[in-house]
Amino acid sequence: MSGKKFYIETLGCQMNKLDSELISGLLINCGMTSSSEPNNSDIAIINTCSVREHAELKALSKLGHLNHLRSKTGKPELIAIIGCFAQRAPEYISEHAEYVDIICGPAELDKLPTLIKQAYEKHNRQVLVSDFRAIRSGRQSACDNLESLEANRIITEKKNQAFVRVQRGCDKFCSYCIVPYVRGPEQSRHPDAIITEIKKLDEIGTQEVTLLGQTVNSYQYRENGTLITLAELLYRVHNSCSIPRIRFITSYPADFSTEIFDAMAELDRICPYLHIPAQHGSNRILKLMNRKYSAEQYIDLIEQARDKIENISIAGDFIVGFPNETEDDHRRSLELIEKIRYKNCFIFKYSVRHGTLAEKKFSQEIPDDIKTRRFIELQKLQDKIALEDNKNMIGQQVNVLVEGISKKAKSNPTDAQQVQLSARTVDDKIAVFDGHKNLIGTIAKVQIIDVSPLTLFAKLI
Ligand code: 5AD
Ligand code: SF4
Repeated sequence: MSGKKFYIETLGCQMNKLDSELISGLLINCGMTSSSEPNNSDIAIINTCSVREHAELKALSKLGHLNHLRSKTGKPELIAIIGCFAQRAPEYISEHAEYVDIICGPAELDKLPTLIKQAYEKHNRQVLVSDFRAIRSGRQSACDNLESLEANRIITEKKNQAFVRVQRGCDKFCSYCIVPYVRGPEQSRHPDAIITEIKKLDEIGTQEVTLLGQTVNSYQYRENGTLITLAELLYRVHNSCSIPRIRFITSYPADFSTEIFDAMAELDRICPYLHIPAQHGSNRILKLMNRKYSAEQYIDLIEQARDKIENISIAGDFIVGFPNETEDDHRRSLELIEKIRYKNCFIFKYSVRHGTLAEKKFSQEIPDDIKTRRFIELQKLQDKIALEDNKNMIGQQVNVLVEGISKKAKSNPTDAQQVQLSARTVDDKIAVFDGHKNLIGTIAKVQIIDVSPLTLFAKLI
């Protein structure tokens, strides 16, 4: 296997991006090298998402493309599908993409090198997915072996932004969601393992670290009889590194403690930003979704956060077209968006997921044209609010972390050193401005001159 080239393409969330980075480290430590193109690689890996049907269709189309490439050029030698879709539907994938060589679930990724080796030696399909039912029922022990993935992380080159996992899996079982079935039970990582990673990132000059968990604010680790919560973890992370920006995503509304807000208010390098999905504004639908809070409790929580943390910005997720959603329910989501005034919202059309509680219990699907209309209504309202709030920022000076070349400049490549750069404020707003490429990875001061719902247009001061 040593000397083989691998290519990884990542679909889906930040957790998957981090998994792909960790797998790269693992394979490099096995003597392989990474490649940015599938056509000159020996092993092509698609890291997949299963949260909506659309993501799975995209993965199948990528696999088809790789198969086509292989039949024309002989490369890649092996095609692997890993991640949430692989875990959810190994049989379906085997049947519909019979040319796939490796199928590996997200909690088995530490064994990917073995699967690659066996696929080469045995010339047959290698399938490895977790039995989360056995793990949840206690018949099988949890996946502690996954720590070895993190242990293989290669932290040498300067990275401006990095993710660090603090928690795996999810135990919430929101009725629409596939995550608890494909990522397994919630497990918090040892605080020392987290701190060790963060210290290494600090040493190489990382400017921003994002702590990742599916319900990150429910982080809990029992250490010598005492419970380490997210609030305590934030103090430990903050006090053990000098990374200028520390964030955490994604929060679950019902598990917030005031201590987390206190920590955010007290610790100056914890960014004033929360991604805290409400999912819906109707209490009736929230109940059907198995979310354990009401719209009123959610509003109270956001008010508390705003009282305690100066200039905090809030991002959310909403689902439209959940089964049985009436016009009145939908209006409640519009009202909640109006009330909260999010910085931005990720809005999704409900996609039925096989095996979830909603699939089993609710048969009344909302027609797609109604979903689309409701989607557009939420999006329009959110855009109007974000534009109004951003307009109040015109003229202000803000510090931004310069992340790279803007999308616009990327689509029009040039050798010039002066380009449009893309940067981020502490409260997670995107700013673009003209500047020298050598500003990438630094914190710059800019003045906002114009805005759109999702972008601040700025000039360097
Ligand atoms: N259909 C549509 N959106 C979904 N999400 C999760 N499951 C589904 C589904 N079945 C959304 C939620 C979640 C985000 C990551 O994806 O809003 O917060
Ligand atoms: Fe899915 Fe709910 Fe867990 Fe989020 S909290 S990952 S929506 S089950």
